[in-house]
Amino acid sequence: MRVILCAATAVLSSLATATCTQHGQHQCSKLAKKLNIQDATVWFTEYVSAGTNMSFPDAHPTCAQGALTAGVDFCRVALYVATSSRSGISMEAWLPSNWTGRFLSTGNGGLNGCLSYSDMLYTVGLGFATVGANNGHNGTSGEPFLNNPDVVTDFAWRSVHTNAVVGKQISKAFYSKKHTKSYYLGCSTGGRQGFKSAQSFPDDFDGIVAGAPAFNFNNLTSWSGHFYLRIGAPGSPTFLTPAQWFAVHADIMAQCDGLDGHVDGILEDPQLCHYRPESLLCPPGTNASSTCLTGTQASTVRSIFSNLHGADGALVYPRMQPGSELLGTPYIYWSGQPFAYTADWFRYVIHSDPAWDPATLGPADYALADALNPADIRTWSGDLSKVRARGARILHWHGLQDQIISSEISPLYYDHVARTMNLPSGELDEFYRFFRISGTGHCQGGPGASFIGQGRLAAASLEPEQNVLMAVVRWVEQGTAPESILGSAVVNGSVVYQRRHCKYPLRNVYTGEGDPKDPDTWECV
Ligand SMILES: *[C@@H]1O[C@H](CO)[C@@H](O)[C@H](O)[C@H]1NC(C)=O
Ligand SMILES: *[C@@H]1O[C@H](CO)[C@@H](O)[C@H](O)[C@H]1NC(C)=O
Ligand SMILES: *[C@@H]1O[C@H](CO)[C@@H](O)[C@H](O)[C@H]1NC(C)=O
Ligand SMILES: *[C@@H]1O[C@H](CO)[C@@H](O)[C@H](O)[C@H]1NC(C)=O
Ligand SMILES: *[C@@H]1O[C@H](CO)[C@@H](O)[C@H](O)[C@H]1NC(C)=O
Ligand SMILES: *[C@@H]1O[C@H](CO)[C@@H](O)[C@H](O)[C@H]1NC(C)=O
Repeated sequence: MRVILCAATAVLSSLATATCTQHGQHQCSKLAKKLNIQDATVWFTEYVSAGTNMSFPDAHPTCAQGALTAGVDFCRVALYVATSSRSGISMEAWLPSNWTGRFLSTGNGGLNGCLSYSDMLYTVGLGFATVGANNGHNGTSGEPFLNNPDVVTDFAWRSVHTNAVVGKQISKAFYSKKHTKSYYLGCSTGGRQGFKSAQSFPDDFDGIVAGAPAFNFNNLTSWSGHFYLRIGAPGSPTFLTPAQWFAVHADIMAQCDGLDGHVDGILEDPQLCHYRPESLLCPPGTNASSTCLTGTQASTVRSIFSNLHGADGALVYPRMQPGSELLGTPYIYWSGQPFAYTADWFRYVIHSDPAWDPATLGPADYALADALNPADIRTWSGDLSKVRARGARILHWHGLQDQIISSEISPLYYDHVARTMNLPSGELDEFYRFFRISGTGHCQGGPGASFIGQGRLAAASLEPEQNVLMAVVRWVEQGTAPESILGSAVVNGSVVYQRRHCKYPLRNVYTGEGDPKDPDTWECV
């Protein structure tokens, strides 16, 4: 049941509201004195009332943090926690007046360095005592890693762990009682942090939502950087123009869109798509155009949709899944620019050489990065037995049009867990479920039913059937596990259709009968 710090009736008089605000301010201002956390320095406490326009002048400019409007009353506390003599995290706890008793930790993205204020706003609004941290450095650049392995350690695991441990202490000090259940919500690097917690700090969370995880991090970073070498700079013979990527996308749809029984621009299972670009080859005697490719360009396309192998022939990382081309055009991997995170990771961590040229990336670099495995950032342990033993639950999801982290890595991890633990899906289901979310880009966006409650701006509903966060809460607290996730396709604020996303290894197919916009006309097979 909720702990309401200020007695509130359904309709508050303005006098009662003012009294409540004073009460909240008082509670919040007392918090700094109540905290007794080792190695921590409280910067400020601030009572934020619903409707406040919050701006974040302390956020690093590269975090590009815009203003946010608070939806509920909460106490905001910001602090610094030293993690070594030469590293530390900046973290915040947002403690709602109308508390559910739940604790929640948010994650980060890319190589940053930025608190996920938007996620914090989402979950504080749902009554979770919420924390976020800067992952050990400020901003999006990897430069703070240079010659400081402690900052790398914070990034690899120590920030998310410290944030959870300290965050629970703050929550307890504020409410004068321990939280009931603890949760984690993150995507991308945040998804990796969720799995790192599950693999190495199984006591931190009772329920984990991990989207598009950047796990197998060393090899992911090599793979992300290898596109630049395949594609080359704009104008080089291997490079495709954005218009040509549009042609490739249309051709992929022509070859594969019907495999799920319905042609709608969305592949329900891109793993079934073995795309061949031959039909786009320019006729003999003509030059490349927006609608046709040279043999060299076709070869670029083939290599992008092929697994990446190392010098020893071992798989480094699976292929880019077909279907995400437009979300990646003309950005990111197809831009003809080096990928910034790969460049930073190799410059500031692997080679400790700010002058390292990302155009020289090759199999020797892949092998070195994997062998160094800085601060054990790999995040690929297939042993989740500690999570299982203590009854925690993991909801893993991945958008099937992910233009940054190929969704094909996620089934590999799921299968790796199944094989490491010798468990069939039926038994994994007790504590670990993986959902493939069609028509969805990296963490959010995309033409499909991409609203699954993974964030504040992607929540069409708070019903557990439709919301990954509330699904994991129900699973943990009531034992009802999600069988599927009902996603919503939202255009200009309106739900235009819904579709159920299946639990791996099932895949979604149209039954052939009825309106395909009706989720009941599809089935998981
Ligand atoms: C909130 O504050 C920011 C900067 O302080 C300002 O740019 C923005 O217009 C404000 N938003 C609203 C809705 O008042
Ligand atoms: C990060 O930013 C905060 C707020 O501006 C600042 O107090 C802190 O010292 C910075 N941390 C690092 C490691 O630069
Ligand atoms: C507290 O949360 C509950 C459950 O979401 C809600 O019904 C109630 O209106 C909230 N109370 C206040 C004062 O915000
Ligand atoms: C192909 O491009 C070359 C170089 O721009 C040009 O000389 C040639 O005329 C073009 N051929 C055709 C068939 O357009
Ligand atoms: C990472 O890539 C190396 C080759 O560079 C390979 O030997 C290794 O098995 C890969 N690791 C994982 C976890 O996929
Ligand atoms: C959404 O809004 C944009 C801009 O107002 C408009 O151009 C577009 O047609 C709208 N789409 C739909 C499906 O309503």
